[in-house]
Amino acid sequence: MKAQLRALEAEALARIRSAPDLAEVEKARVQYLGRKGALTGSLRDMGRLSAEERPEVGKVANEVKGAIEAALLARETELAGTAETERFTAEALDVTRPGRASTRGGLHPLTLVVREILDIFVRMGFGVAEGPEVEKEYYNFEALNIPAHHPARDMQDTFYVAPGVVLRTHTSPVQVRVMEGQPPPVKIVAPGKVYRCDSDVTHSPMFHQVEGLLVDEGVTFADLKGVLASFLRVYYGPDTRVRFRPSYFPFTEPSAEVDIQCVLCGGRGCRTCGGSGWLEILGSGMVDPAVYGFVGYDSEKVQGFAFGLGVERIAMLKYGVDDIRLFYENDLRFLTHFS
Ligand code: DAH
Repeated sequence: MKAQLRALEAEALARIRSAPDLAEVEKARVQYLGRKGALTGSLRDMGRLSAEERPEVGKVANEVKGAIEAALLARETELAGTAETERFTAEALDVTRPGRASTRGGLHPLTLVVREILDIFVRMGFGVAEGPEVEKEYYNFEALNIPAHHPARDMQDTFYVAPGVVLRTHTSPVQVRVMEGQPPPVKIVAPGKVYRCDSDVTHSPMFHQVEGLLVDEGVTFADLKGVLASFLRVYYGPDTRVRFRPSYFPFTEPSAEVDIQCVLCGGRGCRTCGGSGWLEILGSGMVDPAVYGFVGYDSEKVQGFAFGLGVERIAMLKYGVDDIRLFYENDLRFLTHFS
């Protein structure tokens, strides 16, 4: 009987020590220590032993039971530890690996160009003004000396929002609003969106302009030339050749269009400059006395000049972009060139 118990012990311990997982350990517990288990069965058989044999065999049986319990506990602890280690390994984060880089945003090329333009004028002492994009016909046309029959008022060019209300076709109405709101002197630039019913590779129904206005006593056409030539030489480089050409705008007299020597061909003549070697960059002129009449300025006392330039055109020439729509599609492959 004692030998039988020791054999059971050896078998149980071997089985428990090699149990591959906790489920097998549990099975072994049931098999050896359970109510119908092997050891329990042996203890039941003790009833048949003599009174002298019984304490001795009982002692061995208790030892075997203790040994099996200890082995079960030891293996359980061992396996639980392994399982935990395995879980930790599987779930571990390698904090030394490089992170996922987020891409850096940048300013839109048109924003960059507007800022550069404003910056140059601000350094010359100009302030920055703004006006509404939904504008009264009065400010967009009337007060700029554009009478009702003028071709610029044609329904084809202008988006009408309501009777007497338009999407501004240029930033020039800001001139009127600024002069209405303050006495001279005035020295402002006004950036913003403008709208015209027009669309092809160089025209967009919405585009950007920067307007400029300088009004004071004793301002002459020489000031206009000096300020605009300085601006263009800062923006396009000190050797840029600048040309002033007579032109017409209802709100300036005299008026001039300003050209620079073609930045792409250097004046030799190419597709972009239409073979002329010159690129038209902005419109300008001495503020027409009629405009002063609308804002209550005394045209005998003050003189001034104004100008307006197209931001997209300047950006297209600067960066060699040949389709204006690229500025509005927000294709990252295009935009990232500028950031
Ligand atoms: N408003 C004109 C346009 O959109 C541009 C312009 C020309 C603005 C001459 C001016 C100016 O202030 O003096 O075509």
